[in-house]
Amino acid sequence: MLNGFVHESILERAQRKGLVEIHVHNLRDYTTDKHRRVDDYPYGGFAGMVMQCQPIDACVSHLISERHYDEIIFTSPDGEQFTQPVANELSLLNNLIILCGHYKGIDYRIREHLITREISIGDYVLTGGEIAAAAIVDAVTRLVPGVIGDDQSALSDCFQDHLLAAPIYTRPAVYKGWRVPDILLSGNDAKIKDWEFQQSLERTRRLRPDLMDEGPDL
Ligand code: ADE
Repeated sequence: MLNGFVHESILERAQRKGLVEIHVHNLRDYTTDKHRRVDDYPYGGFAGMVMQCQPIDACVSHLISERHYDEIIFTSPDGEQFTQPVANELSLLNNLIILCGHYKGIDYRIREHLITREISIGDYVLTGGEIAAAAIVDAVTRLVPGVIGDDQSALSDCFQDHLLAAPIYTRPAVYKGWRVPDILLSGNDAKIKDWEFQQSLERTRRLRPDLMDEGPDL
């Protein structure tokens, strides 16, 4: 699932340009079990399967013997909420390990002894952490300078300043009678900037007023 994802589109181009390296590791390659099993029944008679310590520890030990990692992240619905500020913070680090969680969970000793940070992508439960890991890799990679067109565009994203983005349009100016706002065709940069800002404010107040509570007074 992840191998396909990290070799598509902007992530693939970022790697080709040498701006980031993304490696996907299969825990089955690290198990000592002859059937390549990486999970087992939970103690206490609970339902589901739990990922064992040994393959995770072997994989992480191998990786940290090769280079220093700034964070060893575990994706879990009970982690801290993944937000733009967290993505910004992670994008400034050099090396990250992201351990994908698993349906029922991983042996808690891994979380106690190896993991440095636990991240949730939202208050819902996925069957595994792969989609969460993909979301983190995507949001962090696009912040690395040079990955998307111009550096400005990452800075003007939704959420970067606690505001939703203004509406955006492309040609033609009229499609099926649906018109692009006249101001955008006026060529008056100062007025356009002001319009964008007012649109951002209005959309944020209407759609996500909670964001404004966290940001500067506007
Ligand atoms: N694994 C399962 N659900 C998750 C979530 N919401 N966030 C991160 N990892 C998860």
